[in-house]
Amino acid sequence: MLKSVLSCCLLLLGGVASVMAQPTPPIVVETQHTSLVLAVGPDQKLYHTYLGARLTNAADYAALPHQHEAYVPAGTDNLFEPAIRLTHTDGNPSLSLAFASVETIQVKGNVDSPANDNKETVIRLRDPQYPVDVVLHFAAYYQEDVIKTWTEIRHRERKPVVLTNYASAMLHFNAHQYWLTQFHGDWAKEAGQQESQLTSGVKVIDTKLGTRPHWYQTPAFFLGLDQAATETTGQVLAGTLAWTGNFRLAFEVDNLNALRVSAGINPYASEYTLPANQTFTTPEFIFTYSTQGKGQASRNLHRWARRFGVLDGTEPRLTLLNNWEATFFDFNEPKLDGLIADAGKLGVDLFLLDDGWFGNNPPRNDDRTSLGDWQPAKTKLPHGVGHLVQTADKNGVKFGIWIEPEMVNPQSDLYRQHPEWVLKLPNRPEHYYRNQLVLDLTNPKVQDFVFNVVDEQLRQNVAYVKWDCNRMITNGYSQYLKQNQSHLYIDYVRGLYKVLDRVRQKYPHVPMMLCSGGGARSDYGGLKYFTEFWPSDNTDAVERVFIQWGFSNFFPSNTLCSHVTNWNRQHTLKFRTDVAMMGKLGYDIEVEKMTPAELQFSQQAVKDYKRLSPVIWQGDQYRLRSPYEGNQAAVLYVEERQTKAVLFGYNLHTRTNETVLPVRLQGLDPARRYRVAEINLMPGTKSELPAHTQTYSGDYLMQVGITVSPLNAPALTSHVLELTAE
Ligand code: DGJ
Repeated sequence: MLKSVLSCCLLLLGGVASVMAQPTPPIVVETQHTSLVLAVGPDQKLYHTYLGARLTNAADYAALPHQHEAYVPAGTDNLFEPAIRLTHTDGNPSLSLAFASVETIQVKGNVDSPANDNKETVIRLRDPQYPVDVVLHFAAYYQEDVIKTWTEIRHRERKPVVLTNYASAMLHFNAHQYWLTQFHGDWAKEAGQQESQLTSGVKVIDTKLGTRPHWYQTPAFFLGLDQAATETTGQVLAGTLAWTGNFRLAFEVDNLNALRVSAGINPYASEYTLPANQTFTTPEFIFTYSTQGKGQASRNLHRWARRFGVLDGTEPRLTLLNNWEATFFDFNEPKLDGLIADAGKLGVDLFLLDDGWFGNNPPRNDDRTSLGDWQPAKTKLPHGVGHLVQTADKNGVKFGIWIEPEMVNPQSDLYRQHPEWVLKLPNRPEHYYRNQLVLDLTNPKVQDFVFNVVDEQLRQNVAYVKWDCNRMITNGYSQYLKQNQSHLYIDYVRGLYKVLDRVRQKYPHVPMMLCSGGGARSDYGGLKYFTEFWPSDNTDAVERVFIQWGFSNFFPSNTLCSHVTNWNRQHTLKFRTDVAMMGKLGYDIEVEKMTPAELQFSQQAVKDYKRLSPVIWQGDQYRLRSPYEGNQAAVLYVEERQTKAVLFGYNLHTRTNETVLPVRLQGLDPARRYRVAEINLMPGTKSELPAHTQTYSGDYLMQVGITVSPLNAPALTSHVLELTAE
């Protein structure tokens, strides 16, 4: 990181200067199309003066009124939601923050565009009376139009300071109306979306689950300003918190109809005692602002995620065959040898062995036992994992494995040996969820144990890991933390990240899937270490159209694992395949039970997917027709150079004679001509779409559109069209 102080810096010797020689110019955090502007007021406080489209004339930023203190401290004159609240060593429960300095640091930019290097703005605030510093960081990703912000808190008081609020970010808006789109769910129904107008008062979206930030509520939202944004219109902010634990998003509309948004770790049951000279660093809040609706906001986040947010986001992914739905716990070595051979036959890159392969006291034959005992079950795998790696090798595929290293069953050697490693309250009965308990990741010995579980697998040429987490924290109490129990939720996540840091130091590129009993973990805090995530155990293709749509608002398609399964056999294999191909394709199906035509179809689909995956993974995504608004869904991916595109169209519950208008495409080059070809056709069938084999201009495709649902097309049918520029 090349560090250069680019902006002004007011040096403060022994406290805050009472007289300023020169007014500080506005602090502008800029991307290609967006500006966030902060300014120092005559009272030395830092004000948030603007967040919106970049102004043409930079000099205009100085004219912006100083309405809202940027990062509001509690205890002095604040009347609304604070960003930060703490109690000093002497018991004083207030904080006041004055501007101290600002600097700008060059950070790693895009390789293809050194001129547009990204910049980080660092603003130091200081209490005039107490030696407490609050440092606000804003990293601006120029090309992607994304800003990442986080906060550091430190002090030099005699004894520890107690923090009770510690937002990552606080943003302010003045609009006529505010429209919030939030995402929520449960097991097998993740990422459902709801939109509502914010009314006066505080709307809070949060979680207290400890380990599973995407369950029930989701740390990601859209905020439409003045009116509800559509996919293509409206001013909208998209934001998400990068934290694999308790989060809180608060939206407060005040007496003047101004909106204050604060995002950060949920302070619930989490007072944090901060010793002198240590830094409390909040998680990152990532946001983008679009004047062209939610679709553009999502594309900004997708680009940012691929380049900066997700491990190896611009590198290829592995297609795979998983055995969870195909076998559940019921398998042995010969059966797995057969499945691995099937992966080779199908043409995918990897076989992924799921839950049930470990434990000897007893072996894991269901979900009641053995979590914690990560030795292969001798009854099931007499020759260990090494044998399976060899079988995979012989069949030209890689081998991956499922683990859930943060958990333990009471029926396990680990629990018997280390009851003190388990999170559980003294004087209360143990509380089980899926028959298991959470290990105490605040304890460095447990961190070592968890690291070793992963290390042991990766040392034997396992090429892929699915990391699961099937429960939340309840009855939370750590024997290790002793009197600091209110640190548990925060230190658990920090412990997890310490383990993942170690894993990534030793194995920087091994692909790993983040999973949590479906999609309960998919935040960007975790995805720094993972290449992809499992959005839902619900693999019913119709449900997946909705679930994948929901997650696609914030996550790129190469992170969204989508498997063809037999969850709902009433859906044709083609329909299921067409849905899975919208994301990162995998299979979890008994290949040996496929008919010859189905196998031929699937082998061709895998080949076509591999050929088109650069477009699906790295292209711009356009959500063209929402399943939430009608009986169809359509999603388009356009490669950056606009020479190739892939269009997915689904009829969901289409009614007889329902009028289905052509789908207007987006993101193409209007001047180019595109040849359209339907792919993913079952052997022996022909395309019924009039556009098949036709050539159209990009202009026509975007202004007039093409039909992806023939008249009277039956429900639960689908089409995949490949568009190639001539
Ligand atoms: C929950 C995951 O979401 C499933 O895919 C599977 O791995 C099971 N756990 C295994 O127990």
